This record gives sequence, C-alpha cells and structure tokens, in this order.
Amino acid sequence: MDARLGAARAESARLHRSPSGASVAELAARFVAITVARSIEERGACRLALAGGSTPRALYERLAAPDLADTIDWARVSIFFGDERLVPPEDPSSNYRMTREALLARVRIPAENVHRIEGEAQAAVAVARYAARLGSLPLDLVLLGMGDDGHVASLFPASAELTSGLAVQASYAPIAPHERVTIGLGVINRARVVALLVTGAAKASRVAQVLTERREGRPALPAARVAPDGGELHWFLDDAAAAELDASVFEAQGLKERVS
Ligand code: 6PG
Repeated sequence: MDARLGAARAESARLHRSPSGASVAELAARFVAITVARSIEERGACRLALAGGSTPRALYERLAAPDLADTIDWARVSIFFGDERLVPPEDPSSNYRMTREALLARVRIPAENVHRIEGEAQAAVAVARYAARLGSLPLDLVLLGMGDDGHVASLFPASAELTSGLAVQASYAPIAPHERVTIGLGVINRARVVALLVTGAAKASRVAQVLTERREGRPALPAARVAPDGGELHWFLDDAAAAELDASVFEAQGLKERVS
C-alpha cells in the first residue's frame, strides 16, 4: 500500500476510548444502533455482520435492551457473521449460539433475516452455502474483535486466507476450535462501516503494533489490513487495551481523549 495512502487511512480510523469493557459495550452499542438506523434511513435496509468471540457479548446484550433495540426496525436488518467455528449451533463455542443468546432471541428479527454459517456442515458445504447467502452486495456494518495475535474474524497472521481474495473460505485456527469459516478481507474492506471492539491489557501491545503498521503504511497483521475502501473504520478500546497508545494518537483524530 502506498505510504501516503496508508498514512491517510491511518488518519481516517476513528479511535474511541472509554474506561472499561462495560463502558466500551455501552458506547459501541449506541454506535451500532445509530449506524443501523442510519443505514435503514439511507438505503431502506441494513446488512450487519456480527463478530464472534467473547468481547462483543456485552455489546449485544446492551443493544438488546429496549431503549436501544426499539429504535431499530429489525425487519429491515439482515444479520450475517464475520466467522464461525465448525461446530453445531447449540455448541457452547458457537458464535451463532452466543449472538442468539445475547441479542437475536431478544429482538423482533424475522428468522429468515438471520444468515448463519452452518457450523454443523462440512467446511466446503458451509462455505458454499454461506457465500450464496452473503452474495456480493457490500455489508453496511461489520463488527470485529481482535485476537491478541492480531487476527480478525478467522483470518490469522501470515495465513493464506489473508491474501486469498476469497469472499468466504475455510480456515484453520491455531486455537481450538481449529476448523473455521470466515469472510475474507475483501468483504470486510468493501463494508460501509467497520467497527473493531478490543478490550483488555493483554491486547495493548498488539493494538499499538497494528496502529503503527497502519500509520506507517505497512499493514501486515490482519487487524492492520482492515481498511474499508471509502468506508469508515472505528476502533472501540477500553483504557487497558489503549494503554500503549500515546495521547497524540487520539488528539490526531480530533477526538476527546476519553469518550464518555
Ligand atoms: C472468533 C472471533 C474472533 C474473535 C477474536 C477476539 O470466532 O473467535 O471471530 O475473531 O473476535 O478472537 O476474541 P475475544 O473477543 O474473545 O478476545
């Protein structure tokens, strides 16, 4: 990537920091509600891809609360997933199960609007069926977490999947459950808005490394390669995950350092 472009994209990322995981969930849930409503207002619908893992659970539970959930016309929302573990939907490690418990079972979204990755199927079957359901329209909002190795969705550092160019693909995670299905970087970077949710001290050095790679225009880690082309990129960090970022990074974004 051209250094200037890389630097510009680094500047285009919006960094939102707040004290704790709970306050990040509050801030991000409000952001999601506003972004979904804006998409419906502008385009009549919202294609929303949910993140898996553990961090976003609190965001989903907050979004399911009536004061936010009732601001969204869920009949106009299509739910997709950034990735899934190849396990049945009732498995405790299923991302679909987590999102169903925390959000989807608590809001009035038609079942046909939820396009889960069929974790119970063979990888090739799950990939083909999900690719067909995802289609080629851009996603309006993609939510992502970040692993402490800098992975996003199930795109892992130095993996073939990172540069495959495929919209949907099987991948092998170094951490169990190993077999995954994931969207590709192209799908992420065609999204209108991407929001990364990263909390906890264990990720602080990786967050700093990722933002440095972006700012210097040499993105290597998967999270550094998240750069929506013409779209918005937002990072939601708690103080612990932002601990190795100096204040200037926030000031450069024209943001108050601590977003309440
Ligand atoms: C998954 C996620 C994965 C997750 C990161 C962060 O299936 O595990 O899609 O990309 O977002 O591993 O996970 P935590 O939020 O649990 O730290």
